Amino acid sequence: MSALYEQLHLPSSSFSSFSSFSSLPSSSSPAFAQDVLDGLAHRQRRIPCQWLYDHLGSLLFERITQQPEYYPARTEIAILEQVAGQVAEAAGPHATLIELGSGSARKTPIVLRALDRPAAYVPVDISETFLASTTRTIAAGFPRLKVVPCVADFTRLTSLPPELPAGRRVVFFPGSTIGNLDPAAAEALLTRIGRVVGAGALMVIGIDHTRDPARMVRAYDDAAGVTAAFNKNLLVRINRELRGDFDAEAFHHVARFDSEQRRIEMHLVSARTQRATVLGRAFDFAIGQSIHTENSYKPSPFQFLAMAHRAGWRQEQLWVEGAAGYAVHVLQSVSSPSSSSFSSL
Ligand SMILES: C[S@@+](CC[C@H](N)C(=O)[O-])C[C@H]1O[C@@H](n2cnc3c(N)ncnc32)[C@H](O)[C@@H]1O
Repeated sequence: MSALYEQLHLPSSSFSSFSSFSSLPSSSSPAFAQDVLDGLAHRQRRIPCQWLYDHLGSLLFERITQQPEYYPARTEIAILEQVAGQVAEAAGPHATLIELGSGSARKTPIVLRALDRPAAYVPVDISETFLASTTRTIAAGFPRLKVVPCVADFTRLTSLPPELPAGRRVVFFPGSTIGNLDPAAAEALLTRIGRVVGAGALMVIGIDHTRDPARMVRAYDDAAGVTAAFNKNLLVRINRELRGDFDAEAFHHVARFDSEQRRIEMHLVSARTQRATVLGRAFDFAIGQSIHTENSYKPSPFQFLAMAHRAGWRQEQLWVEGAAGYAVHVLQSVSSPSSSSFSSL
């Protein structure tokens, strides 16, 4: 049983209605199975976006960040390169950097190099094998740094690994990943993380505040088709891990902006009438019927800061790249630390 399976394992009572779980392929997660079967049973079919990130999904996401249309990554890197010294000054010496949704950690060395003798680095990610390769890369680049990877769903994190040195905690949450959560879930996550790291900890968080819908849609539907491949890979993963038989080529990738909710939505839209089965269950699709696979909320800086404040974080610093509308915020936690012992899920 893989570590990911263990970390994501839910109480068996959660699955009492799904007798076919007993025959899940060994590489798959019951939580993935439950989210897919639940999500496909809704009228608007939907699957939570963390499942886009198996190893290939993580590689494809990295490729997305290199597309010319994908302004968030290069804008955030440019901001971090300019302000890393100020972040390091605010953090002080011997800080422990905890990165939520670390992915390839391409931006992390900018912060690690600026920090004064960082004590440890904790990359947290749901994509297990990709996290292992990121850990090796960072450990090779920073041989004296203690690197403690954590395979976990960050929305369920309750405490940090016990072997971390004392010293200030600095949460690094780049990539506008928080925008993948709906506002209530984002606030709950910030509250939870504040309790895990305790008062005085900092959070360096990147978030897209763009107001240009056409620019956003292009970023999530690049001309080279990388985002389309990333989205369709979810069906390939379902086929492999959940005995599915989706024809990924019979679905179109669609990105659209919902102006009321201020979010980009990604969908997989059925190109024809078809039936797909997952773990022995059949799901019929009409032409044009979609599976909603990702949201990317674009709150205003004011909306975001109001939410952070309600979640127990105070604004320290803010840098916005005007043309792109992308921002890096530094927040400080005013929450009391929770006393729970380490268990990431
Ligand atoms: C938008 S990508 C950002 C990657 C990287 N931080 C960057 O800035 O390029 C989101 C990352 O968060 C991870 N992720 C998504 N949902 C997660 C969850 N619930 N728990 C842990 N990791 C998650 C994904 O595997 C992926 O690496």
